[in-house]
Amino acid sequence: MTACKLSLYSDATDRWRLLEADMLAALAKLPENSVDCVVTDPPYGIAFHGEAWDGAGKAGRHLSDGEAFAAWARAWASECLRVLKPGGHLVAFGSPRTFHRLVSGVEDSGLQIRDVLMWVYAQGTPKTRKLPGGLAAMLKPAYEPILLARKPLVGTTPRNLEEWGTGALNVEASRVNGYWPSHLALSHSPDCTGERCASDCPAGLLDAARPELRPSRLFFCAKASKAERETGCEALPLQSDLLYSRPAVRLRRNIHPTVKPLALMRWLVALVTPPGGVVLDPFAGSATTGIAALLEDRVFLGIEREPKYTDIACSRLTHWAHEAERESS
Ligand SMILES: C[S@@+](CC[C@H](N)C(=O)[O-])C[C@H]1O[C@@H](n2cnc3c(N)ncnc32)[C@H](O)[C@@H]1O
Ligand SMILES: [Zn+2]
Repeated sequence: MTACKLSLYSDATDRWRLLEADMLAALAKLPENSVDCVVTDPPYGIAFHGEAWDGAGKAGRHLSDGEAFAAWARAWASECLRVLKPGGHLVAFGSPRTFHRLVSGVEDSGLQIRDVLMWVYAQGTPKTRKLPGGLAAMLKPAYEPILLARKPLVGTTPRNLEEWGTGALNVEASRVNGYWPSHLALSHSPDCTGERCASDCPAGLLDAARPELRPSRLFFCAKASKAERETGCEALPLQSDLLYSRPAVRLRRNIHPTVKPLALMRWLVALVTPPGGVVLDPFAGSATTGIAALLEDRVFLGIEREPKYTDIACSRLTHWAHEAERESS
């Protein structure tokens, strides 16, 4: 993948661009009103540890970790506001512990808070050790909140739609088993098979409790499987997956620790992007948002700072762009 050693990556399909850069520097170079939506999964600010976000210009002023995270969210959301077309949506994942700061930072940027979606995956592992006496400091994570915000409209919704193509959600195209899409998405367990749900699968439990409601009104998708994460990365080296490998060593080609499931990202992209529109992800990681955009026949612009992740992102995007072309021809 020699092409991917440059700081601006793409491939012959010309359906995606990836900038290897700090997102604030890269966003500042984009023209205003140029993207149809932002779909992103920013750092969650959990391992924040008193980082000096207040910077040299604010010497003497003390910000708590939470305040600094909100100020940082406001800074990047302000750039997103500028580059979004009027009425363009922003979708941003968060962590339950810092989500309130993400929302306030995004709101302070001038974007309008429209909704909070929830992705319930239920099978997280506790991120803490057991203490003596049956005690522990934290619960097991089981969901991720997803913020839905929007750049203010110019005039009415119909007028904004006519002028910019943005301002509304693609409800018809995103129906779930024929039903109006809701702001709750559930995940199957990774252990579910086509025939049977695992015993702790939230989807299976829900359907079993209310069989008369099948097919469900809720959107279901599995967490990203190993095969899904690795597809397109065949030419990359195998590396040990430090975050999840303890105590056993696991080798992977896609070592990004927070790869989102494609089905969920496709559903979100299809919901907020006008047909053929440009999807921006300033925290692209291994580019799952980008793959979703390609498979939904949209155009992708991603920004990712870490070379070890842009390599993975380029490989995956190159693979899936050709798949998407093959499917549409
Ligand atoms: C939660 S991950 C995104 C994962 C992605 N959803 C996926 O499926 O692979 C956030 C990404 O933001 C990147 N990042 C953090 N700060 C950044 C910055 N200032 N500029 C550009 N990228 C940044 C990190 O390197 C990380 O890959
Ligand atoms: Zn299931």
